[in-house]
Amino acid sequence: MDRVSTGIEGLDDHINGGYPKGRTILVSGDPGSGKTTFGLHFLLDGIVNHKENGVLVTLMEEPKEILLENAAEFGLDLAKYESEGSLCILDVSPVRVVVDREMTFTIPVEGSALGAKGFHVGELISLINKKIMEINAKRVVIDSITPLTLSRKDPFEVRYDLNTIIGVLDAALVTSLLTVESEHCCEAYSGVGTVSYLTDGVISLRTVREGNEVRRNMEIVKMLGSAHSLKPIEYEITNTGIQLKTR
Ligand SMILES: Nc1ncnc2c1ncn2[C@@H]1O[C@H](COP(=O)(O)OP(=O)(O)O)[C@@H](O)[C@H]1O
Ligand SMILES: [Mg+2]
Repeated sequence: MDRVSTGIEGLDDHINGGYPKGRTILVSGDPGSGKTTFGLHFLLDGIVNHKENGVLVTLMEEPKEILLENAAEFGLDLAKYESEGSLCILDVSPVRVVVDREMTFTIPVEGSALGAKGFHVGELISLINKKIMEINAKRVVIDSITPLTLSRKDPFEVRYDLNTIIGVLDAALVTSLLTVESEHCCEAYSGVGTVSYLTDGVISLRTVREGNEVRRNMEIVKMLGSAHSLKPIEYEITNTGIQLKTR
């Protein structure tokens, strides 16, 4: 099985050389656990070290402006890669209120924005597919799928949507990371919980409290074709991103 580097130093060694190529991996975690950073490592490694273009779909409370600002804190100039055509950022974050200098409030509504009246998961999927083709992307990050799972009332529809997304990404021959908020990953009966059964790999990011200390641990819950340890891997987030402390 071919492997695709994670872009996180030392992590490839834990999973037989990297993510299984052409497959979909789920990264679940609490707020602030490093899900978005995980995605940035993966995409930037592709662009900078492997000449592999990437698509970043941002769906959560992190619209593009905030994403660009955050990445800049890690010394990453996403706008530069975007203008070069090696990165495409697809901003479908939920409709939000914008306050201008005169303190008037407007709610920008576009058809492709989640929360907009015309939003349809099917359309989002074709939009992602179109962007993959346009820049010949090999890596895709959807950050996060949680709002998609909330846009449906029926767990069957959620599963159908996620299956369709994964199917389209598979057919496009890209390696993908989907992020999800922890509570929407592992609720056994929510129907949403099934997402961890649908992907080829699951990495769970956890914050563990021990006395006065708080540690960050990641667990490889499953990874197709990899003999991996189930032992937690301790990590920290520094100004260069995710650093493993366990080797
Ligand atoms: N430049 C930075 N230097 C050090 N730590 C950072 C930096 N930027 C973010 N962090 C840490 O990473 C966390 C956010 O990571 P992020 O990937 O956005 O998490 P998530 O997407 O899971 O909410 C912050 O709460 C902070 O602890
Ligand atoms: Mg995030």
